[in-house]
Order: sequence, then C-alpha cells, then structure tokens
Amino acid sequence: MSLKQYLKRGCRFILNGVPVKNITANIMYLQPNGRLSGKKIIITGGGKGLGAAMAEKFVAEGASVLISGRNEKTLKETAERIGCKYFTLDVQDTSVLNKFISEADSILEGADCLVNNAGISLHEPTFFDVTPETFDAQIATNLRGGFFLTQSFTRLLLKEKRKGNVLFVSSETGETVDIRPYGFTKAAVNSMVQGLACLFVKDGIRVNAIAPGITASDMTGFKANGNLFLAGNATERIYLPEEVAETACFLLSDASGCVSGQVIVCNNGKTINPRWK
Ligand SMILES: NC(=O)c1ccc[n+]([C@@H]2O[C@H](COP(=O)([O-])OP(=O)(O)OC[C@H]3O[C@@H](n4cnc5c(N)ncnc54)[C@H](OP(=O)(O)O)[C@@H]3O)[C@@H](O)[C@H]2O)c1
Repeated sequence: MSLKQYLKRGCRFILNGVPVKNITANIMYLQPNGRLSGKKIIITGGGKGLGAAMAEKFVAEGASVLISGRNEKTLKETAERIGCKYFTLDVQDTSVLNKFISEADSILEGADCLVNNAGISLHEPTFFDVTPETFDAQIATNLRGGFFLTQSFTRLLLKEKRKGNVLFVSSETGETVDIRPYGFTKAAVNSMVQGLACLFVKDGIRVNAIAPGITASDMTGFKANGNLFLAGNATERIYLPEEVAETACFLLSDASGCVSGQVIVCNNGKTINPRWK
C-alpha cells in the first residue's frame, strides 16, 4: 500500500518513515449473567496482565477465584480491587506445588478449575542470544510449572471424584515454528493440552488452551489505553486482555461442555497459512 493510500485511510502520523494509524478498539464484552456461578478457580500469575483480566471477569460471572504469583503486593492490590483471594507461588519451585494446590483448595473450599497462566518471555533477540539460563527459566515457568501443577490438581480431582476444568494460556507462537524457548514452551503446552484432554475425558475433566496474539500487558510492553496500532497483528490492532478473558470465560463455563483438547487462538487467523499468502 502506498503512503498516499495510507493517508487516505486515516494515518495520523509517521514514525521512522512508517505511516502509523491511530487505532482504538470497540470490543464486545458480554454482560455478566452468572455463567461461572459456583465455580472455584485457581489462576497462576493473576496479579496483573491477562491473569488479572481473567480473574476480574470470572469474579463478575459469579466464580470464587484465587490468584497467585510471586509479587505479594501486586496480588494483594488486585485481589482487593476485584474481590478474590490470593496466595503467593513461584511456579518454578516444583517442591511447593502440591502444598499450594492443597492450600488453594482449602481456601476455595473445593477448587474445580485451574488456569495455568503464569508465564515469561525473555525476548532473546536472536537464536545466538539464548543461554542455558534463559532457556531453563522459560521452560521452568511456562511448561514445567504448569505440567506439575496440573498433575497435582488432577490427582486431587480424581481422589475426590470431582469433575474439573484446566485451562492453559498458550500463545500464537505455539502455532508456528520458533528458534527461541518461549515458542517451544507454548508448542509443548499445546501438545500437553491435547494429551491430557484425551487422558481425562472419562473423568469429566476438560483441558483446553487459549493462545493469544500480541496483547497489551507488561510482557509485550503495549499499553491498553493508547494507540492500539500494530501492523504485525492481522487486524492491525493490539489485542486487549479483556478479549482474552472473554474467551477464557467461555472455556471455563459449562456452555463449552463439549469442548476439550482445543487450543483457541485469539489472533484473527494470523498464524493460519493459506495457500495464497
Ligand atoms: N501479552 C501477550 O501478548 C501474550 C500473548 C500470548 C500469550 N501470553 C501468555 O499470557 C500469560 C500471561 O502473560 P501477560 O501477557 O499477562 O504477562 P505479564 O503481565 O508479564 O504477567 C505475567 C504473569 O505471570 C506471573 N509469573 C511470572 N513468572 C512466575 C512464576 N515463576 N511463578 C508464578 N507466577 C509467575 C506474573 O506474576 P509475578 O511477577 O507476581 O510472579 C504475572 O502475573 C503468559 O503465559 C504469556 O505467555 C501473552
């Protein structure tokens, strides 16, 4: 597209020679109607970002929610703001995961949903910038933590003969190839989701994932309250955490009772590779 065409379509200013449009979002957010009423939901990494947006949505839909993460101050502030419980947890520390599930279960008086949202992206600029330390940290947070937390949680559900729901927060990067550990962790999460869904179908435990595109959060550095233009996203707009939360809400609700083993990619088809691309 020529610069002239861009200008005609509402370009406001030019950054480093690249036309930048001023884009705002007009998203549809379903009005709360108690669709998660009675659900008891544990969310890892719920103090900020996508986790906090999900927690807020789930509480608004009638769920009892417990958020967790390493930063107690952030957790406390978010929990007070939205009206949920909190408990500190570092998902890299596998020695505390069983105890955490047991504590969270007792605080919620019987948890039935787990959202594995805690994640880091260390944004190594190239393949050659990946070190054993950055590799291990991303594996330990994004993959190993969620794996063993889910193992502990499903063991509890099976013991108590409870039905349940596990939701992983994957990423659009898991849908493509990558040269960095972040993408490997999300591709592995997608595999795990499908495997666990098959494993637990007879026990009434559903396992799904949402795979967001580039969304406003500290991880990406994009703000939700500014110009949302991003040429790299399919709609040329940065996604908002509330959009991801809406999809997550559906997957945790009984309205999606026939859905398991699915990775719902929230990026308007950006990672689909059609023949004509
Ligand atoms: N934003 C995007 O564009 C995007 C796209 C695709 C997927 N995702 C995924 O969405 C999830 C949330 O990311 P975000 O964008 O909301 O980023 P964020 O704002 O940086 O939030 C990350 C969350 O993870 C928690 N966390 C990180 N390391 C942890 C650890 N070792 N133990 C426990 N909690 C930990 C953080 O809490 P503490 O710092 O308090 O521990 C924080 O609550 C991640 O899994 C990410 O991969 C994000």
